[in-house]
Amino acid sequence: MNDTLQDRVKKDLCPDYIWQLSRVMKSLLKHQIGRLPRKKASEDETRYPETPEGMRAFLEVFFARHFFQVQNSLVKYLESKDGLSILKEGHLRILDIGSGPAVASLAITEIVACIVEHLVHSSVWRGNKKIRVTYVLNDTEGICLGVARTMLGNYFKMGGKHGKWITCARTLTSQRAFPDNMSQLQQIAGNIGGYDIAVLSYVLTPLKENAGLNALAVGLSDVDGLCSSKGQVLVLQDRFRTPLVRKIAGLIGRLARKEELTQRLNHASNENDKYTYSYYTCLYSPGRDEAVCE
Ligand SMILES: C[S@@+](CC[C@H](N)C(=O)[O-])C[C@H]1O[C@@H](n2cnc3c(N)ncnc32)[C@H](O)[C@@H]1O
Repeated sequence: MNDTLQDRVKKDLCPDYIWQLSRVMKSLLKHQIGRLPRKKASEDETRYPETPEGMRAFLEVFFARHFFQVQNSLVKYLESKDGLSILKEGHLRILDIGSGPAVASLAITEIVACIVEHLVHSSVWRGNKKIRVTYVLNDTEGICLGVARTMLGNYFKMGGKHGKWITCARTLTSQRAFPDNMSQLQQIAGNIGGYDIAVLSYVLTPLKENAGLNALAVGLSDVDGLCSSKGQVLVLQDRFRTPLVRKIAGLIGRLARKEELTQRLNHASNENDKYTYSYYTCLYSPGRDEAVCE
């Protein structure tokens, strides 16, 4: 039986239904962790890194977890008619709000590399022109934006099949707090032609605390207006924030869905250890009324 594109991509990203990092991503992560000091970091620092030791702890504990959840949420969209049409046009524009060390941006880039590789190998695409990706990273912490830039830069410098299919067009950063930075995000969107994917991954909690629920909902609605016609917005959060996710989804008139995935634990002493996580995903097409993109 012939595998579909979806089957082949899923087998690469998630063999035997267990999400795991590619060889390239593992070595990128290991390299970055090795450059940061091994000092004790508090739980808060591990979740919201502000120092080098906090960043190290975040990369060890949360990077892969959030990375896989972004991939699981967006893989279907990227393989859909709209997603493939954006890739065929040759330019993907990602807005990563509360980017941390570019977790969602790297996760999306790896899916794109995998999809393009399969399309070229099955002769659906010629693959003679690389897809350009523009990254717009927004985070209030300098260390997050610094590490995000370094990791994206190193990813494109590393040898690996991804370099054959994709290239980084530009990486732009905004250190002003969302949603106060809306005019900056608007200006960038105007210059690059709108965002194809806007992600808020594990950032609802600090945003709600800083800006308040209503300002956050207004900010999200404003982001809708900055997206391209075939674009998608993804809001991701863990199951411990269920009331918050439901409230936000209600305020913006979208549905949030509970999801679950099993992944390898890369930071465990035994890399074969696996764990199943539940989380919420709110994925929608800002230009359309339907609540959830299928
Ligand atoms: C839990 S981390 C999530 C990082 C990444 N998105 C992920 O999925 O792993 C939350 C990030 O949001 C950033 N942040 C907090 N308040 C923010 C705001 N108002 N605007 C932009 N980023 C913010 C923090 O500095 C932190 O890097």
